[in-house]
Amino acid sequence: MSLNNKKILMIVGGGISAYKALDLARLLRKKDVKVKTILTKSGKNFVTPLSITSLTNNKVYEDIFDAKNESEIDHISLSRWADLILVMPTTANFMTKLSLGQASDLATTVILASNKDIVLVPAMNVRMWLHSATQSNFKTLSGYGYKFIGPEKGEMACGEYGEGKMSSPRQILSYLKEYFDNKNFFKSKNIKALVTTGPTREYFDAVRYISNNSSGKQGYEVALAFSRMGIKTTLVAGPSEINSSKDLVIKKVESSVQMLEEVKKSLPVDIAVCAAAVSDYRPKTKAQQKIKKKITELNYLELQKSPDILEFLSKNNKARPTLVVGFSAETENIIKNSVLKLKQKYCDLIIANDVSNKKTGFNVDYNKVSIINKKGQIEKIPRNKKSFIASILVKKIMENFLSNSKKNH
Ligand code: C5P
Repeated sequence: MSLNNKKILMIVGGGISAYKALDLARLLRKKDVKVKTILTKSGKNFVTPLSITSLTNNKVYEDIFDAKNESEIDHISLSRWADLILVMPTTANFMTKLSLGQASDLATTVILASNKDIVLVPAMNVRMWLHSATQSNFKTLSGYGYKFIGPEKGEMACGEYGEGKMSSPRQILSYLKEYFDNKNFFKSKNIKALVTTGPTREYFDAVRYISNNSSGKQGYEVALAFSRMGIKTTLVAGPSEINSSKDLVIKKVESSVQMLEEVKKSLPVDIAVCAAAVSDYRPKTKAQQKIKKKITELNYLELQKSPDILEFLSKNNKARPTLVVGFSAETENIIKNSVLKLKQKYCDLIIANDVSNKKTGFNVDYNKVSIINKKGQIEKIPRNKKSFIASILVKKIMENFLSNSKKNH
């Protein structure tokens, strides 16, 4: 059973649908899920701590400063205890607090300090949900990696009809079941992924090199999204300002040759995603010292092709990953050029991204991509935060991986 013995920290917000949290707690307990609860100040207007305790068999946490329970109520240990944090109902006000990164009470502090997936279950009036401010919060929070269940369309407590109704406890339960099923599945199959990211530096003397503007963010987010699915992930990163992460094995490299070496060492893997902006050419020679200006012979640099890591992986008969995915940054004829690259490099999928303007692509937090498969089918993902794009990409990549695995067996 995927839910058996899982630990869920439920945050009950202030909304008329807060009573449904009791129903969910009951369903979760039936599935042997351990539930701890934080009741927000406004949530307390709708449900009582006593009713929650009776259903969850656990005490309810309310205040950030609790003299009686100082060690137990520590916001870090509460968040570390949980496998997942669920906020139901999530009000418009709570979304604003999270968008701003507030830590003004126990619930927001636990969330800000959390290293777990956080699932928000919005419930509000249709006008509130559709308001630009809420929609902008929704985008921001999705970008931060928060997940959403609903809201649904339907009749609301206020009598109006539209989008904003909270998903039912049964819908939430089936979401949670699917979430843990996926995680358990990939973990139990010991699936491994490899991601390359960032630029490379190709030195022609002791201090100078050829490189590009890639920030490495998209590949980093893709690697994190794999790891959130329970997939063991190695990230081979060219020089970039990415944070370290306890969920990833990160191997830092500088040149394309080093990147290829680290990639080889990481094999075999089941899935490879080459998001690195590898320099296509590298100097034929590297001077050991800084080249002096007065050397008049340096009128040109002799270059040679860099190793193509994506092509190496795709054509690697001995240890070809089941799924090889390339990226294709283009400024013109994006789809046409990307389809060509998919064929030339023998990959299974190519992610085309438009780097023709400063709003998406290189060195910014946003991206706009299309996923192209070998049949030439194209799926467009509109402009969004790279973390959000990464979650969608990884979901699609896993669908393709599973169908390729079935074909190969
Ligand atoms: O040919 P182009 O550089 O446009 O191809 C981009 C794709 O190939 C990306 O997935 C990139 O990571 C990969 N690539 C590579 N090694 C190279 C050049 C590109 O892995 N030397």
